[in-house]
Amino acid sequence: MERALADIAPPAWVTCAPSGDPAEAQRIAAACGLRVVERPGTLRELLAEANGLPVLVLGATDAILHHQLEVERGGRRGEHEPPGFRLTPGMAQLRLQNAIKGDSDPLVRFAELAAGDRVVDLTLGLGGDALLAAHATQARVLGLEAHPVLAACAMASLARAGHRNPRVAAVAARVEVVCADHATWLAQRPARSFEVALLDPMFRAPSAAAPAFELVRTFALHQPLTPDTLLAARRVVTRCVLVKDAAPGHELDRLGLVPLSSRRMPKVVFGRAPAGE
Ligand SMILES: C[S@@+](CC[C@H](N)C(=O)[O-])C[C@H]1O[C@@H](n2cnc3c(N)ncnc32)[C@H](O)[C@@H]1O
Repeated sequence: MERALADIAPPAWVTCAPSGDPAEAQRIAAACGLRVVERPGTLRELLAEANGLPVLVLGATDAILHHQLEVERGGRRGEHEPPGFRLTPGMAQLRLQNAIKGDSDPLVRFAELAAGDRVVDLTLGLGGDALLAAHATQARVLGLEAHPVLAACAMASLARAGHRNPRVAAVAARVEVVCADHATWLAQRPARSFEVALLDPMFRAPSAAAPAFELVRTFALHQPLTPDTLLAARRVVTRCVLVKDAAPGHELDRLGLVPLSSRRMPKVVFGRAPAGE
């Protein structure tokens, strides 16, 4: 973790299901500044002890973030298991599978991604766009996520992506998650060290209601993208910074970028800012 983020987030606990790997729990907790806890009793007892803190439970093939909000909003409910957000790359994996089949994705097209490009995703979320970039470039993609709980969820979800599909798993393994605030990180980066940077700040009027989106909305940092951050991102790339916005693109207008639309993703527009000095 590049800087302490306890000030922007409630802490969370990480633990293993009986099928899980304790080394993974240690790794994720250390990378995101979370606390690893043993699970001597039942999950319900652990959640009672956590007293409302989110608890990420890592199993062999799935991972679940248990969080009080999910009880109120409805989600996965089971007689024997407390509700929680099951971490799957979901829609992102569908987009990736389509890309593997040869479909062109607007993000890849607008950023002109090609094999070998170095890409940094400055707003990783659960890693949907980063997966697309890792597929298009056949290279590693660095993903920055400021919120420790979301960074931990992204690590857990990417590690389990495609456990029945080795091609998806190979792409997901190329996404490297770093828990860091992009403004701080950008200030320390050498100029022109990536071809492309991706920026997908939280839309001002989110519309989707999928569980994964609900999870991101619950924990994400919601600050709008500032012109200074855009400038800092342009400094570290050789080609462009691709900014995502909800159609018709009010955030892009505010930043002086022209909205580019596609038939494939009509609710989303992209703004392309060229590499800067
Ligand atoms: C809309 S989501 C990104 C979704 C992602 N593009 C995808 O395809 O799944 C925006 C994410 O950026 C993160 N974020 C916001 N400000 C940030 C910052 N300053 N540094 C790093 N991450 C940030 C939020 O916490 C949130 O998870």
